[in-house]
Amino acid sequence: MNVGFIGTGSMGSILIESFIKTNALQPKQIIAANRTFQKAERLAAAYPGLRAARSNIEVVLESDIVFLCIKPKQFKKVIDEIKRVVLPEQLIVSITSPVLIRHLEEHLRCKIAKMIPSITNYVCSGATLVMLGNRLNTDDAERLENLLKHISKPLKVSEEYTRISSDLSSCGPAFLSFFVEQFVNAAVEKTGIPKEEAARLACEMVLGTGLLLTAGGFSPESLRERVTVPGGITEEGLRMLSMDLEGTFERLIRSTHNKYHEELEKVEGLFYNPTQ
Ligand SMILES: NC(=O)c1ccc[n+]([C@@H]2O[C@H](COP(=O)([O-])OP(=O)(O)OC[C@H]3O[C@@H](n4cnc5c(N)ncnc54)[C@H](OP(=O)(O)O)[C@@H]3O)[C@@H](O)[C@H]2O)c1
Repeated sequence: MNVGFIGTGSMGSILIESFIKTNALQPKQIIAANRTFQKAERLAAAYPGLRAARSNIEVVLESDIVFLCIKPKQFKKVIDEIKRVVLPEQLIVSITSPVLIRHLEEHLRCKIAKMIPSITNYVCSGATLVMLGNRLNTDDAERLENLLKHISKPLKVSEEYTRISSDLSSCGPAFLSFFVEQFVNAAVEKTGIPKEEAARLACEMVLGTGLLLTAGGFSPESLRERVTVPGGITEEGLRMLSMDLEGTFERLIRSTHNKYHEELEKVEGLFYNPTQ
């Protein structure tokens, strides 16, 4: 099986490197193109056997599965470029939430799936959110899932919940890192603890908490309750946090969903009203 990548920016290169590191794919099974050719060339130099293609068409011609790792506004151009050479038996997988399966099925005659990765896949952890189009059969679905299993826990989700699932799974690492960053900066500023020490403590805490919440049998609620001694220091911190953060997550979700709908409208404009 040959796997192609169109776009080798942040997520395209993470996926390629993770598939190679986990032996899900050998470099010689991979062909990649990127608008700035040097990025694809760098991957070819780092992983002998991997082919850097000069065009997106070349990627499609040589692949069974093609991952589209480009931004929403770049889709129309790439789809127009590849649609003449795509074959019905090929599988195209988009990794972008505001481009819907229906947009791709309407413009390409091949099998279509959507897969939303997470930076956590770089360490073979976290979920990949999987949505399957109507043209995939059971074998296609299994083939995709087997590939993704090497780097993640593939989780089938309904496209209706793509945005909220992506907020949790793909934006989540940035949100959690922001929390850690703020916590560490405040610790340094308020107490003078060396930054490196504070950061190491906080990062080890995140790792341990993640393990407890997955393999360790705790839910977020039961873990919080276990740590919080009534009348103790944690309880005091939580009391302050719940007052100050009231409504924060509702506002967070509203803002990501507003942005998603804006992008969805732009994508629809590009696909159905190209003069806009
Ligand atoms: N980053 C994440 O954690 C994450 C997680 C889940 C999903 N996603 C989704 O993944 C998609 C890509 O995100 P990203 O963070 O990887 O963005 P990125 O770093 O900007 O990568 C996009 C790549 O696409 C290339 N490109 C643009 N137009 C192209 C064309 N016509 N043909 C071939 N290549 C082209 C760009 O090339 P240049 O080098 O010329 O700019 C760039 O390297 C986004 O839709 C995002 O929502 C990202």
